[in-house]
Amino acid sequence: MLCNKRSLLLLSLGVAAISWIYAEETMSIYRGTVWFIKGMREYTKSGYEAAAKKFNEEDLKVDCTGKSYLITGSNSGIGKHAALELARRGGTVHLVCRNKTAAQEACDEIKSETGNNNVHVHVLDISKPRDVIRFVQSFTHELDVLVNNAGCMVHSRELDENGLEKNFATNVVGTYLLTKALLTKFEGSSDPRVITVSSGGMLNQKLDAEDPQCDKMKTFDGRQVYSQNKRGQIVMTEQLAKAHPNVHFSSMHPGWADTPAVRTAMPDFYNKMKDRLRTTDQGADTIVWLAIAAAAKKQPSGLFFQDRTPVSTHLPLAWTKSTPQEETVFMQKLEDLWHKFNRVDCQ
Ligand SMILES: NC(=O)c1ccc[n+]([C@@H]2O[C@H](COP(=O)([O-])OP(=O)(O)OC[C@H]3O[C@@H](n4cnc5c(N)ncnc54)[C@H](OP(=O)(O)O)[C@@H]3O)[C@@H](O)[C@H]2O)c1
Repeated sequence: MLCNKRSLLLLSLGVAAISWIYAEETMSIYRGTVWFIKGMREYTKSGYEAAAKKFNEEDLKVDCTGKSYLITGSNSGIGKHAALELARRGGTVHLVCRNKTAAQEACDEIKSETGNNNVHVHVLDISKPRDVIRFVQSFTHELDVLVNNAGCMVHSRELDENGLEKNFATNVVGTYLLTKALLTKFEGSSDPRVITVSSGGMLNQKLDAEDPQCDKMKTFDGRQVYSQNKRGQIVMTEQLAKAHPNVHFSSMHPGWADTPAVRTAMPDFYNKMKDRLRTTDQGADTIVWLAIAAAAKKQPSGLFFQDRTPVSTHLPLAWTKSTPQEETVFMQKLEDLWHKFNRVDCQ
């Protein structure tokens, strides 16, 4: 009798476990399918062209002279194009890149195309927390706008000497530390803004507050880790907006744009989609709009944008919403890293 009860219990647990795995897989297929259909309609070049019909041409007619912009990962792709547009409008632009030669080439190109010589190169690998803090300590300029654009999708698990996984260190930790450390540089600005380039890929992921750098993932999946990081950027932006009401925070999705990152990190996707991808100026449009448009500033702080419009951070019925407690746990982990690395002995 006892044996039968035990068997029944084990059987029930087995069925529950299989149902749970099945439900997880079904949900993952559901999210991926809904997201891809949405992407084909909205994230492509034709999606941009359709959205652009509603843009107000006047929004970007802004003189940026006297304003200072810092853009990470601005030696190529979307970031470089955003830097070009800000320099074209007279802004002082700080290119923060890990490769000095590539950054200097981008700087020379931007100067020659815009005639604006207030474009400066700074070398920083944002995946290195102590370097991020040291960089900010030596950054003597005032700032109006920070664009957290640098990002990566690394397909193998690489841990640094601090135990930080490469994607997480770049997309989440570097972005958080740089933003927090630069907040003091906004003090003289009448219109401080922070824009973080996330990704629509985050719609496929629920925040994993307990395991944000995916240590428990059995088979490392760079795409999934990247999407988890990009979800983290959304939560981070919402929480920073609440904590710092004097700064206007936004996150955004650039759509699917033809850039070196897409070609190298997602070659299959690139080959299938190359004729439908956005140009880098289409991908950068919303970054520039969020950085300079008066209309962007009228939107509440902390929102997620696509084609100059605030959009939902969740797909319908996708079960990706995190609880306030989960978000507190996630932010506490970032704060712990901030306290660990933001020390005078970093100098
Ligand atoms: N293109 C798209 O379809 C798409 C879609 C969604 C989101 N995004 C996001 O858009 C942003 C820009 O990417 P992109 O598509 O324009 O690709 P990209 O041209 O390859 O630009 C990525 C930039 O990030 C830099 N970077 C990467 N890791 C870095 C680090 N540790 N320290 C400093 N810089 C680092 C890269 O430097 P190196 O040149 O030295 O590698 C490069 O300048 C990323 O955040 C990406 O996740 C892009």
